[in-house]
Amino acid sequence: MNAEETLAQIAGEVAVCKNCALHKTREKSVPGEGPFNSEIMFIGEGPGANENKQGRPFVGAAGNFLNQLLAEAGLKREEVWIGNVVKCRPPENRDPLPEELSACNLYLERQMAAINPSIIVTLGRFSMGKFMEGVKISAVHGEMRKVGDRFVIPMFHPAAALHQPQLKSTILADFAKLPQLLDVARKELGKSALVAKVEESDEESKRLNLF
Ligand code: URA
Ligand code: SF4
Repeated sequence: MNAEETLAQIAGEVAVCKNCALHKTREKSVPGEGPFNSEIMFIGEGPGANENKQGRPFVGAAGNFLNQLLAEAGLKREEVWIGNVVKCRPPENRDPLPEELSACNLYLERQMAAINPSIIVTLGRFSMGKFMEGVKISAVHGEMRKVGDRFVIPMFHPAAALHQPQLKSTILADFAKLPQLLDVARKELGKSALVAKVEESDEESKRLNLF
């Protein structure tokens, strides 16, 4: 199965999933959307009221703000993948419970494996918690770090930032830094491949007694 087929398969499974109690109150599950080969994945928390009705991520007020943030970073919404750690709406937009996060986790894992992005931008603390333990979002927001062979950048959640002037200017500033961070990540990931090649050719030169 190629990446595109895998994503479609996961969306099909999520549509009928009953692995946690959230299935009982959902209208539509929200698998996430975006190109199968996205370089960047944006991962939020869970669907809200609008997402639950439409089956698409970030289509309400938080979504409009996310679109603005993406534009701030020079990114088009169509060129990135956008999804959530839980695929069904928690009632009254409450926080997802630990058992719901773990029940839904494998879908996101499979989506990440299929897309294989270089960079993951987490939106809010639940998605950050998947990649980093024991850190506070207020301390690490906007800072990129390597997790395995990818880079992860934790951001505040757009819905939280939207209504708090201080957070709003912070998240805008963090997104404005994204192009630079993306450059660093690309260089770092590209560089390791390049360094390996250079070392190889050094070895080859030595072997051929060219030095
Ligand atoms: N908030 C989220 O975390 N995800 C959505 O899809 C919409 C709002
Ligand atoms: Fe299944 Fe995830 Fe929906 Fe729970 S939230 S029912 S695990 S798709």
